[in-house]
Amino acid sequence: MADHEHGTSTTSEQITAEVLAAIQGTGADRARVVLTSLIRHAHDFAREVRLQPDELLGAADFLRRCGEISDEARHELILLSDVLGMTMVVDTIAAEVPDGALETSVLGPFYRAGSPLEPNGANISRGGSEDGEPAHIHGQVLNLRGEPIAGAELDVWGTNANGLYENVDPLQPDYNLRGRFRTDETGAYDLWTVKPVSYPIPADGPVGDLLRVTNRHNMRPAHFHVIATADGYRTIVTELYTDDDEYLWTDAVFGVKSSLVVHYERIDDPRRLAAADRAEPYWDLRHDFVLAPGESGEVSFSTGREAAGR
Ligand SMILES: [Fe+2]
Repeated sequence: MADHEHGTSTTSEQITAEVLAAIQGTGADRARVVLTSLIRHAHDFAREVRLQPDELLGAADFLRRCGEISDEARHELILLSDVLGMTMVVDTIAAEVPDGALETSVLGPFYRAGSPLEPNGANISRGGSEDGEPAHIHGQVLNLRGEPIAGAELDVWGTNANGLYENVDPLQPDYNLRGRFRTDETGAYDLWTVKPVSYPIPADGPVGDLLRVTNRHNMRPAHFHVIATADGYRTIVTELYTDDDEYLWTDAVFGVKSSLVVHYERIDDPRRLAAADRAEPYWDLRHDFVLAPGESGEVSFSTGREAAGR
């Protein structure tokens, strides 16, 4: 209601109503539902904080800078969604996983589709000892009744000891620390990689400015990325978080869920090393992935590899 005596001045609520009326011709139902709610909430938000014109321009400029710093290998707007917790809210709503099933976590901006399909037991540390401390990750993919799922695919990726993914580090071999594994008839998978380390998310762009304004660090706790897929089961994009990491409960992108925290056991007993045919100590993680029935799906985002010399 206008507070003018004769009610002649236009209120912000009238403008909201006008905008909502203007988009009712939107062709697709889903687009109309999403846009209507988005506009309603955005206008209410502006009223609630009494958003100032220079602040709106500042926000527009922030988004422009997000676009400008983005390229094939860096997507600042995904990073923005991640640090605001939006990615985790959306993923968690969408996943609707039943209790006991593998939970979702963030995909992150470094997924690169099409990594090599490897036999079980293969080592995806293609860069040698500089990649980090060896880790053996193995277990089964199971359904909710505890029965093995044969032919499930685990698409995995991680950083080297410097906290860098191969696609943004020209010094690493192509597809280093990335690979796809399929479970055998007993639902088992088995791979070698390196123990994950915590790493900073890029702070040299607008998202870094946002973190500084909010007095937040830009570290992600050590994690191992997995996309688990099997015919007749819901595809799950997730991460396993290492329990001994100092940033475990202050993840810059809010990805950690209790069921995703895992423990790597240090193997340095000579008898066990001999049994595993290893000369050097390593980390062992046995982890089973439990999938719920549903539709398997494709991940629609994939990054490229940054050109060498950059
Ligand atoms: Fe990551």
